[in-house]
Amino acid sequence: MNTMNTMEKILVLDFGGQYNQLIARRVREQHVYAEIEAYDKITPDEIKAREYKGIILTGGPNSVYDFESPHYDHEILNLGIPILGICYGDQLLAFTAGGTVSSAENSSEYGKTKLIADEHPLFVGVPRESICWMSHTDFIAEPPEGYKTIAVTEKCPCAAMADDEHKIYGVQFHPEVTHTQYGNLILHNFLFSVCGCSGDWQVENFTEDLVAEYKEKLSGKKVLLALSGGVDSSVTALLLQRAVGDNLICVFVDHGLLRKDEGDFVERTFKGHFGINLIRIDAKELFLSRLAGVTDPETKRKIIGETFIRVFEEEAKKLGQIDILAQGTIYPDVIESGKGASAVIKSHHNVGGLPRRISFEGIAEPLRTLFKDEVRNVGTTLGLPHELVWRQPFPGPGLAVRIIGDITDEKLEALKEADAIFREAVDGAGLPHGPDQYFAVLTDLHTVGVMGDARTYGYTVALRAVSTDDFMTAEWTRLPYEVLEEASRRITNEVPGISRVVYDISSKPPATVEWE
Ligand code: XMP
Repeated sequence: MNTMNTMEKILVLDFGGQYNQLIARRVREQHVYAEIEAYDKITPDEIKAREYKGIILTGGPNSVYDFESPHYDHEILNLGIPILGICYGDQLLAFTAGGTVSSAENSSEYGKTKLIADEHPLFVGVPRESICWMSHTDFIAEPPEGYKTIAVTEKCPCAAMADDEHKIYGVQFHPEVTHTQYGNLILHNFLFSVCGCSGDWQVENFTEDLVAEYKEKLSGKKVLLALSGGVDSSVTALLLQRAVGDNLICVFVDHGLLRKDEGDFVERTFKGHFGINLIRIDAKELFLSRLAGVTDPETKRKIIGETFIRVFEEEAKKLGQIDILAQGTIYPDVIESGKGASAVIKSHHNVGGLPRRISFEGIAEPLRTLFKDEVRNVGTTLGLPHELVWRQPFPGPGLAVRIIGDITDEKLEALKEADAIFREAVDGAGLPHGPDQYFAVLTDLHTVGVMGDARTYGYTVALRAVSTDDFMTAEWTRLPYEVLEEASRRITNEVPGISRVVYDISSKPPATVEWE
């Protein structure tokens, strides 16, 4: 069995760079399991005990000269494990081994840069000239003793360096970023030629391992899961059902802020189709009463999080003894909540923390080592319908953060209709490259309209559609005018109280995807 202890894996030692999760993903895409640890949270002894096949030192925002810049324990260089330093990781290798790291305004590089690479095992298959992605101010002016320069750019006299004897390498550029033409190949060379990986990690096999692991861990336990119908909690539900059967109880708190007909769909799918032990709680009135008159976005989120917990706790109390609380935590949640060294950028929470008033002996988070695309693969392997696996993201606080200003039942119903119409228009257009997320927002702007001979004074609906890989950055989608036209015509005709439709043409950054 391909268990966590015996399978080959790579350590991504995190120095706080923005692309660190991407590095781990790129490694896993090559069927080698990778895990991220903050540079100061794992000791050389632990690294040795976990038998990593290789270590990748990530980039980071610091300069190696900063007084408080993060450094690794020197001992990791003596473990006999191959190392690849990227950007800051590269500079750290050079600096700690006595090379010269310099900083000069006119030597900084940002963006696509021409790389000139020597023949080297790291660059097998990489042409002499190719494009790489650079993002740095400091640079290695001279590699340390024992290292040789194996690539340069116009401004960077040492864009990559190698200590072949000890299998320690550094690259100033970012192979994990798609703009680096041969980035995947360079990582492949490191993983397979240098580290000797075999690439036998498959998320499909991993699914069976996970089911087996949780069958054993949770044998005889009563497990409770808050199911929202989002990808993560849905996959968690299916996986745990396979592991513990009817000992899994799913509670679906329907806060009434879901999209049109979504609550029924979730119930039908999980209770009807999968036969999951599901309790649906219709809590719309409670949520709306608590939200009445609240306009501040953060306060809305807080109220929803707290109310959610309260409703969930009350339901759990009725269920008697619960042994295990299951959660749909995935790897980026783990990293973003502070496991890695990266700054916490977002505080997106679907639920307002852990319930305090139910006692349970442990938590089960079977997806905590997986990235989103891997979670989707697990979902597909478990038979989750395509439309759920590929569901666009939907914020935990639901339509509450898409109604600007205070929330009323009337506004909520209008938004549900407008949103459903817009989604129908986009889905029906059969676009080859449709947006990754698209929805309607009810602004609190009243504008004048005309209907028949009468003046109207209704709300303005904003349509939002974005194209993105990771939702950290996003482009507004150039939807065909016909799609926008149909959505606009239908919304203003069919949804009472809406007199105007506008299209949001802001990208992220500087705007965010959601309006609140
Ligand atoms: P922003 O608005 O930060 O959104 O650009 C990025 C992505 O995150 C989703 N989002 C949330 N997801 N709980 C979630 O689970 C939340 O509170 C939340 N707020 C935003 C958003 O829909 C987009 O996909």
